[in-house]
Amino acid sequence: NKQLTIGLFGFGVVGEGLYKVLQQTPSLNGEIRKVCIKHPDKQRNAPQELFTTDKDELLQDESINVIVEVIDDADAAFDIVKTALLNGKSVVSASKKMIAEHLPELLQLQQETGLPFLYESAACASIPVIRNLEEYYDNDLLHSIKAIVNGSTNFILTKIFEDKLEFATALKLAQDLGFAESNPKLDVEGYDAVNKWTFLLTHAYGIVTGTNEILFSGIQNIQLGDAKVAREKGYEIKLVAQAKKLSDGKVAAVVLPQFIAQQDPLTFVKNEYNGVVIESGFADKQFFYGKGAGSFPTASAVLSDISALRYDYKYEYKKLYHHQPAQLSSDFYLRV
Ligand code: HSE
Repeated sequence: NKQLTIGLFGFGVVGEGLYKVLQQTPSLNGEIRKVCIKHPDKQRNAPQELFTTDKDELLQDESINVIVEVIDDADAAFDIVKTALLNGKSVVSASKKMIAEHLPELLQLQQETGLPFLYESAACASIPVIRNLEEYYDNDLLHSIKAIVNGSTNFILTKIFEDKLEFATALKLAQDLGFAESNPKLDVEGYDAVNKWTFLLTHAYGIVTGTNEILFSGIQNIQLGDAKVAREKGYEIKLVAQAKKLSDGKVAAVVLPQFIAQQDPLTFVKNEYNGVVIESGFADKQFFYGKGAGSFPTASAVLSDISALRYDYKYEYKKLYHHQPAQLSSDFYLRV
């Protein structure tokens, strides 16, 4: 069992969660050696000597073989990941915005260095959705994916439509519970969901794209009256990320609020849970369900990545490197 010596960037909701999770999983043989933080004066629930504000104490330390990065500044996160890989360290990241913005460079860095760069926690938190998407044979057989990939907006929709809370109250609750981004506009206006969708499309279909290529909207324009209409007609409103294989072989992809029929498994997804419904050849329909935000559910996925480093696991990007990658359709909107 390879010993994992960890340098951790960030001690917020996810970082502190991971610290506690590692304390409760001694069998992993993973030890946090240093934690780099931005605000040294904040009270932290861990020994003071672990903390530093100097990133080089982690990135240049040869006794650290794994960098775990769970900060929410995408530019700083990219610098950390890049330096860590170039310095020969394996990397685990939870920074979905950073991954969405830098995917081509990250793919190149992985190829150049041959080192693992894992980010299972960056989409759908506790659900191992990236690993699962990698498992489907060929992108022709992956007929469609319909998913709820943002916990905060799903939480807000549940609270306003089922518990009759005001939007602002529901959002405040999502923030207090640690589900929302520090800038909640990223959740509410759909940016977080479309960020996740870009790299999920890479693992599902081999598509490398940017958020500017995908039509998206959040829940900013949904009103209580919309839910009333939906309910009367037997539907729920959900923010859905969708991809569909078209007859020309291209993939249509959008992230939009949608009416979801009562018999659809996605109506079962409430609060901060996420869900992914996949239709694929021979297998027919599958439904993955689990907590998509929050300290421990996210830390559980980071833990999974860290544990996979014991045997140097890497994503295969099968659809990108071993199959013919699919193309994103440009007339997606009308055809989904
Ligand atoms: N703000 C994100 C969400 C956190 O609500 O889904 C998990 O990625």
